[in-house]
Amino acid sequence: MFTLKHLDLFDSLETPFYFYDLEILNKTLEAVKKSAPKRYHVHYALKANAHPDLLKIIKNHGFGADCVSGNEVKRAVECGFDKEMIVFAGVGKSDKEINYALDHNIFCFNVESIPELKVIDELARNKNVKANIALRINPNVDAYTHKYITTGLEENKFGINPYEFDTVLEEIKKLPNLNFNGLHFHIGSQIGDLKPFKNLCSRVNEINKWFIQKGYLLPNINVGGGLGINYKEPDKEAVVDFESYFKVFSTSLELMPQQQVHFELGRAFIGQCGSLISRVLYIKNGINTNFAILDAGMTELIRPALYQAYHKIENVTSILKIIPIVIGTKNQQLIKYDIVGPICESSDCFGKAVELPETKRGDIIAIRSAGAYGEVMSSQYNLREKINSYFL
Ligand code: LLP
Repeated sequence: MFTLKHLDLFDSLETPFYFYDLEILNKTLEAVKKSAPKRYHVHYALKANAHPDLLKIIKNHGFGADCVSGNEVKRAVECGFDKEMIVFAGVGKSDKEINYALDHNIFCFNVESIPELKVIDELARNKNVKANIALRINPNVDAYTHKYITTGLEENKFGINPYEFDTVLEEIKKLPNLNFNGLHFHIGSQIGDLKPFKNLCSRVNEINKWFIQKGYLLPNINVGGGLGINYKEPDKEAVVDFESYFKVFSTSLELMPQQQVHFELGRAFIGQCGSLISRVLYIKNGINTNFAILDAGMTELIRPALYQAYHKIENVTSILKIIPIVIGTKNQQLIKYDIVGPICESSDCFGKAVELPETKRGDIIAIRSAGAYGEVMSSQYNLREKINSYFL
């Protein structure tokens, strides 16, 4: 929830930019620490937001890092994450990326295919080291989320399918530079209901038992990330309910006492603390539609265009400056606007028929819950400037 202090800051800066509320971030990180049982190890998924200043805060709270590219591994190392707590996943790791991670002796490679196992073994042999690996398993569990961010179904490109397990074990025996020490799962992102995680636990139990029967009691079980946030009402749920989330795993996972549980949370850590702040450039009245044209577009936040994602949109100027004056004299009238950006694409739209108080050129507009997969996915399409970010 913004105050006049925020509005003064926003008004003094060139828009658009990302704004991160560090109080929300710190509260979130404390909540994770408080609700995660002792043998749970949480790695922050850098893909959600890799801003060095934010990463340092997350690192200082003692979390590990989940990376999906060599550059993310590099960023995690540079920001001081403990190498013993860096995991490296991704369906297409290049030799250069693998070599970089081997040189930094990271905690684990989450391996997605038999050819990748062979390449990591060969590169580790060249360096005369052993690579710690977990097998990323495709559990065929539906996350019931947008199809572009569903990863744990057989039709998805991620992970090794159960019918390949016997072959994989045969291969691993032939690869002496691998240290096979875990199983990894990740079913998707923005999962709002806890049921898919419960289903995941059942599959993890079955698969873990299968490996134990084959003589592999693996010390690390990584259940990935995916916990969703409340995009509709960000102020009501600024901090995600981590306690209920971890409870699903505590009650449903059947592990051996020596097995450690790993998580890779991105959005739930960083989503609610960030907003995209922009200014209204023009109000354009159409026959049936009023357009509020912002100075931010899909280049700064692509989620609505790419996943038809909902983000709450607020006119901060009118909430804080106009409404308090008007209230008491007459009811504030809401007007419907299509909130669009300046990019030459019709998909450059943050929301259709969004009800806002009367909106004018120069008003500050906040697009909420944009801390995750916002700034990191921004682009310079249309030769847009690289977006700045500020903290409070
Ligand atoms: N682990 C793996 C292997 C992943 O692929 C992901 C996300 C995560 C962890 C973290 O998931 P989270 O806790 O953040 O849900 N750009 C999309 C989201 C893509 C998610 C990709 N993988 C969006 O804006 O919704």
